[in-house]
Amino acid sequence: MLVRRTQPQLPILQLPDENGRDAPQGAQTGGPSRGVPVSAAPASAAAAPVAGRGRGTRSGPSRLLQISAWASFVLNVTIIATGGTVRLTGSGLGCTDWPVCTPGSLVPTPELGIHGIIEFANRTISGPLLVAGILVLVLSWRIRARRSDLLVISAVVLGLVVLQALVGAFVVWFHLNANLVGFHYTVSLVLVCVTAAYLVRMFEDPLPRRVDVPRGFAILTHVTTLFMALTVLFGVLTTGAGPHSGDADVVRDGFDATVLSHVHAWPGYISLALVLALVGWSGVRRLRTLRWSIALLAALLVQIGVGVFQARSGLPPFAVGVHMVLASLTAAAMTVVVLRLKRPAAAAAAAPAGATR
Ligand code: HEM
Repeated sequence: MLVRRTQPQLPILQLPDENGRDAPQGAQTGGPSRGVPVSAAPASAAAAPVAGRGRGTRSGPSRLLQISAWASFVLNVTIIATGGTVRLTGSGLGCTDWPVCTPGSLVPTPELGIHGIIEFANRTISGPLLVAGILVLVLSWRIRARRSDLLVISAVVLGLVVLQALVGAFVVWFHLNANLVGFHYTVSLVLVCVTAAYLVRMFEDPLPRRVDVPRGFAILTHVTTLFMALTVLFGVLTTGAGPHSGDADVVRDGFDATVLSHVHAWPGYISLALVLALVGWSGVRRLRTLRWSIALLAALLVQIGVGVFQARSGLPPFAVGVHMVLASLTAAAMTVVVLRLKRPAAAAAAAPAGATR
């Protein structure tokens, strides 16, 4: 695709078409923005990335891709809320079969009552969620020549969505086995993280990325991720051992809920201490992780507050639901912090080491 020629007498930089086919050598790795003659651009602009943060520019992600990617993220958070509602209202098996609701009906019958409607609503979300996932994959395929990273992430998302449909079926067929329910939730939480990663990468340049923070900081961030993952894992096991593991008659995961709740809280508090260290370090060194570390800290503080509240007040369903949804947003914020350890090579070269952006 040819760019609009503003000064035809000078060589014009061409950008790739949606398949990245007609870009001249070098155009995919850096160059001034569309329509700017190469020789007229200042040296720093020549080093600037092509498909930069690009919101609204013709080289950035298309509006449809942006909408689809956001929809994918939001729907994956939403389905955690609706799935949680199924669990917390005892509506598991509100639909007795899968993929149809009952052996003779696709939709809930009046006899299934409110539980049928709640579970069916949860299933219904998976429709638009699947459509958003497919759309993102198709649109990523169209720009695969310059954004193979986005294609890979979107394929992972779609793969996980399909896996979730199967796990959902097993949850029904195995009568809300608590371990399966917990696995179902965990995959959704991972999906929220991966769709968040897509959003971050979508607005970044399609260039090789390199670490842009001190090595110790990167290690500390990954250690924090590990403790947060342990917190989530033990949180899932705690829920599976308690009253909200499926419905009133469900087989629990067999662990002691009281012991587990402590084992769940410890890595949570360690994560808090580590995130405080990340915020402090980012602030002192003015790292590009600062803003998202603060967001992570805020999410974690609220999450811990809700966790302590629900533990002290007999696990009220609404608080447990908020705790489940917030866990996915906290994990997504952690994902963004991890992604901001690196930045596209050209941008890293142009900026002072570790500068906030
Ligand atoms: C970043 C993630 C999370 C953090 C920081 C966190 C933190 C906490 C904290 C501090 C408590 C209070 C524990 C106590 O005082 O005894 C708690 C309770 C609880 N959390 Fe989490 N949590 C997280 C994720 C999760 C997840 C993913 C689940 C399950 C899906 C979960 C389920 C629970 C349950 C069931 C309790 C109540 C335990 C009980 O008293 O029986 N948490 N959480």
